[in-house]
Amino acid sequence: MITRGVSAQNATAVPAPIYNPYPPGILPPNLNSEIIRVLAEVDFIEERALARWHNLKPPIVTGQPPRLQNTGTAAMETLGELMNFDRNMSPGRNQACMSCHMPYACFSGPIPSVNLTMIAYPGTVHFRAGKRIPQRHPYSPFFPVLQYNEVQGLFFGGNFWDSRATGFELRIPDAEQAQGPPVDTQEMGFPDTACVAFRLAHAVYRPLFEEIWGKGSLDINFPPETEQICATPGGAAVFGGNTTPIPLTPTDRTHANTVYDRWGQSIDSYEQSVQVSAFSSKFDAFLKGTYTLTADEMAGFQLFNGKGNCNSCHLDGRGTTLTSGQTDTSTAALVTPLFTCFGSANEGLPLNPRNAFYYQNRPDSFGFIGNPYGFGYRDLRMGTFLRSGFGSGPNPNITWRKFAPTVDGQFQVASVRNVAMTPPQCPTTEAPGPYFQKGFFHNGYIKSLKQLVHFYNTRDKFQFPVTSGHCPAGKTEKVDCWPMYEVKNNLDMTTGNLGLTDEEENQIVAFLQTLTDGFTRPYPNRDTFTGTCMSGGSAKTQGNEFLIPTPPLPPCAKAICGVPPVPNPPIP
Ligand code: HEC
Ligand code: HEC
Repeated sequence: MITRGVSAQNATAVPAPIYNPYPPGILPPNLNSEIIRVLAEVDFIEERALARWHNLKPPIVTGQPPRLQNTGTAAMETLGELMNFDRNMSPGRNQACMSCHMPYACFSGPIPSVNLTMIAYPGTVHFRAGKRIPQRHPYSPFFPVLQYNEVQGLFFGGNFWDSRATGFELRIPDAEQAQGPPVDTQEMGFPDTACVAFRLAHAVYRPLFEEIWGKGSLDINFPPETEQICATPGGAAVFGGNTTPIPLTPTDRTHANTVYDRWGQSIDSYEQSVQVSAFSSKFDAFLKGTYTLTADEMAGFQLFNGKGNCNSCHLDGRGTTLTSGQTDTSTAALVTPLFTCFGSANEGLPLNPRNAFYYQNRPDSFGFIGNPYGFGYRDLRMGTFLRSGFGSGPNPNITWRKFAPTVDGQFQVASVRNVAMTPPQCPTTEAPGPYFQKGFFHNGYIKSLKQLVHFYNTRDKFQFPVTSGHCPAGKTEKVDCWPMYEVKNNLDMTTGNLGLTDEEENQIVAFLQTLTDGFTRPYPNRDTFTGTCMSGGSAKTQGNEFLIPTPPLPPCAKAICGVPPVPNPPIP
């Protein structure tokens, strides 16, 4: 039950004091204005989606089982779009899903300065922040339900970097993924999943929801204090750890849970649609035979599935049996390759001390502490998930737990598609630009695709036993010095010393750029960026002026590295 203290903290009435446990330089100076910019863009796209809905002929219900004929698909996808861009889905009505995932960044982080500084995106409570770089959505719906393949001894499927959205309940990892952020304390931050049903019941697009999911689907008896509860961020001390503070009858609770499933399924429908997962890149046109790759793009493609070894995880539908100098003359066996094997690997990224997560070890004004372990936190990734550990989610399958030490340090093989997408006015991710600054890999340590390929090429060749910010004198971090791995367990050794030349690295970058959707037809809402591009410098050292020295690291916290079955070898 909720106590009286809440009304004083009602986020809509009294803005909470800014939470700033960060040393100078972690929060970018333009953070407030950038959040406002993105919210305005989010509202603009929400208006477009509303117009799309209003122009849609209502579907007709026919057949047995009854189905929405003709415009059912369009209605469902539009509902998902309206939900994704709805800023009311947060206690302060100040954050939508898309605050962290905008179409022009191909549904990754929309704020260049955040990608350079704090990495994790600010949540509804300013400024709690999550712990990783927002992943791109396209093609996430194509990941299967997480499964352990006994023959291979490997996991395949799931969503999120650590696969914790397994799909075990909804059978669609991507739909289950969408149930995370609304109640993530560092993201949209509702204190109770039923707040989504409550806000949907008041949404302008409620009739569309009811058209698809049934009349009465939002008729839930919410007690009068619901508004107040849903305006108070999750994790607030007043809730005393209660994750269902809205006092609903068992019937209404079941009803609200069903709405929450519908939320996930509708959002998945939008993400899976050809608006988002578009298969409309140069590479798709090349597979169809309507686009000829340039000499550099073709060379990059051959390196990708040859000397670069990339195709052994980022499957492009072809084999990797070529030796350097050979030409691939086979035809594509698969014309919709996703450039992932759905498996996981540890690519050996160094710890990025800029990640805002490390600094949230003091309570905010709600009494919430994001990371009590500070720099004692280590991201063991899938291993932590299998242990149902701190910062991940509950593992639904106890028989998987014993495999935790075999996956410590591993993250999902991201689809490479769209990694290079930017707003049209900043046509590249690469300095000197004009460019749009992204953060690459799970912790945003890498700032350009040139650096990304150089990392795969030289990670082990230029490895030094230092943490980021401490490369020896005369060495340049990311050029001829790579700091040590955050987690060295289960390190992937198929890359790390590829022997690619500078030109070959550039050719792989050119190939990665052919995977950007929007070539055969426009990519919807890519035109909505109202911020500014950056320019100058070199892709090799892009963002290096923002490197900060990693503080001396305390040992990994017991609550992370001491949870059985413990990592093997032990993590310092
Ligand atoms: C505060 C920023 C933030 C908000 C808000 C947010 N996300 Fe994310 N999103 C992230 C981050 C960070 C990750 C990666 C997290 C991880 O793997 O631990 C992510 C991951 C994802 C993925 C996983 C993709 C994959 O391939 O596994 C999808 C899909 C996604 N988000 C969709 C959504 C949806 C839908 C919402 C709203 C319901 C949402 N996000 C709200 C930051 C955010
Ligand atoms: C052993 C498997 C494996 C191989 C080989 C591999 N990758 Fe990856 N790749 C991954 C994993 C795992 C991730 C996510 C890692 C992370 O963020 O920590 C990833 C992520 C990426 C991303 C997405 C980054 C982002 O920010 O979303 C790109 C682009 C990429 N790899 C390109 C390549 C290229 C180019 C090569 C060859 C030079 C390559 N990969 C080889 C496993 C692999």
